[in-house]
Amino acid sequence: NLPKVYITRRIPLDGLKVLQQSGSCEIEQWDSDDPVPRSELLKKVSGIHGLYCLLTEKIDKDVLNAAGPNLKVVSTMSVGYDHLSLEDLKNRGIKVGFTPDVLTEAVAELTIALLLATSRRLIEAVDEAKNGGWGTWKPLWMCGSGLRGSTIGILGLGRIGEAIAGRLKPFEVEKFIYNDITPREELAAKISAEFVPLEELARQSDFLIVCCALTPETQGICNKQLFSKMKSNAVFINTSRGAVVNQEDLYYALANHQIAAAGLDVTVPEPLPTNHPLFKLKNCVILPHIASATVETRNAMAALAAHNLLAGLKGEAMPKELKL
Ligand code: GLV
Ligand code: GLV
Repeated sequence: NLPKVYITRRIPLDGLKVLQQSGSCEIEQWDSDDPVPRSELLKKVSGIHGLYCLLTEKIDKDVLNAAGPNLKVVSTMSVGYDHLSLEDLKNRGIKVGFTPDVLTEAVAELTIALLLATSRRLIEAVDEAKNGGWGTWKPLWMCGSGLRGSTIGILGLGRIGEAIAGRLKPFEVEKFIYNDITPREELAAKISAEFVPLEELARQSDFLIVCCALTPETQGICNKQLFSKMKSNAVFINTSRGAVVNQEDLYYALANHQIAAAGLDVTVPEPLPTNHPLFKLKNCVILPHIASATVETRNAMAALAAHNLLAGLKGEAMPKELKL
């Protein structure tokens, strides 16, 4: 009897191939591009040994109870792990795999694209061009702010923050500053970034880029206090998790021009309802959580999650295990 695996979504082919060609597990899958309904998930996990999930599935006590004692490994096709109840997983001795590293470049690239789209007002400008707002060339029209000589603030300096900084350097930025739960001296040295308190990060940054993990410590840390200290020409970018930001406070800061603009790849909830006030603001660019969305990266994430799952089932070391 082969161990049973449940996959909660249609996934990139490279991931499915790894599992199928291993011949070492029996696979059942929610074969759709849309998330598995919660009731279906709770039914399907019963008796499984391995769960292959995405960031859209909350893996909590109820899911673990529904799965039962066979469940040995949970493998998420994501670098984020805020959808997993880590304490419950740890208490049950369940191994957890995730997909860092393989998406670093894609996320960094998208972050740069979103930053430039926001700071140079690309979406607004395209709309104007299409909709008759382009009367003539105007010296004072559609002006944003440039990267050259600017101070870049990074909130959460990890692999992705480092990759973002490396890509921004050629734009001749003046300096990098960062804040994190603890100083990250080794990474900081590589990009010559100076550790500053959160308040200072808010005060000095021309571009403030959020790329930290969502944890109890980072939940809602981008709030009124932070936005009120930022420069009025500052651009705020978030490609981590929506819940790091207090969205009402961000809305207030944008609507009242406390800060110049925001670019968000992540929101609360996802999807953000189309009638949400943030969508009405010209100085807010909102993307539908696509930072890792390149064909190569999604295939690499799917394959890595599959290798994590297989290793976990065999009781071997996972290529990327999340230490609980
Ligand atoms: C994407 O947000 C991920 O966590 O992989
Ligand atoms: C812009 O197109 C310029 O010629 O300055």
